[in-house]
Amino acid sequence: MVRYVRRTPPAGPVAEVLAAQPQAAPAPQARETPPVMPVPAGAPLPAAAATDSAAAWSVLTAQVAACTACGLSRTRTHTVPGVGDRNADWLIVGEAPGAEEDARGEPFVGRAGKLLDAMLRAIGLDRQKGVYITNIVKCRPPNNRDPAPDEVAACAGFLERQIALIQPKLILAVGKVAAQNLLGSEEPIGRLRGRVWRWRGTDLPIVATYHPAYLLRSPLEKRKVWDDLCLAQDVYRQRSSGAA
Ligand code: URA
Ligand code: SF4
Repeated sequence: MVRYVRRTPPAGPVAEVLAAQPQAAPAPQARETPPVMPVPAGAPLPAAAATDSAAAWSVLTAQVAACTACGLSRTRTHTVPGVGDRNADWLIVGEAPGAEEDARGEPFVGRAGKLLDAMLRAIGLDRQKGVYITNIVKCRPPNNRDPAPDEVAACAGFLERQIALIQPKLILAVGKVAAQNLLGSEEPIGRLRGRVWRWRGTDLPIVATYHPAYLLRSPLEKRKVWDDLCLAQDVYRQRSSGAA
């Protein structure tokens, strides 16, 4: 059985971000295979002809920019396809662009994004290097509501394509919407976090954690996020060393 070691949050500026109450009981660490996420009908998959990676990314980006497959296209300012390293080992998936992301066309650039950056820095990651950041839907839902199931289904093909192109070693799902949709589950995030899942029966691990916007409202949960990040890092290291 694989054991994951709990570590103490780092000192320094990151401590402000991640230090919080110790958690009473360790989260379960069972490996489970989630139900398969349904493949949406009419998902806007790019043409299979684009085999060259740079060309495939151009196709994908152009398709997102022109996409009108769901109603969010009518209210967006910019599409927000994703940012970062296209050869990243870590794929971070959030929920949906907010107001600042919609204005700039880049994910996680608002307050929650600053906290996400600090979370990544705490485990030695950077949004430009080794990490790619995207969302379940690429356009902003009005008033920051949760994306509706038909919008998620319409957009799912883009995320599938990104996973296929990036071939990450680990997916970190941040927040309920990302976790539930990636895992095809309706369980609350508190039950999805703290353990290792797999992407659709493949060996690609998924670790879920709380959304930084939730942490801004509930700072006492930061300890759990730190635990989840350590879990993700352990899984990643084992996978990189060929043990997982
Ligand atoms: N929240 C998200 O889930 N994604 C973003 O890009 C910004 C805020
Ligand atoms: Fe297209 Fe996704 Fe934007 Fe909907 S949210 S219009 S499916 S890119």
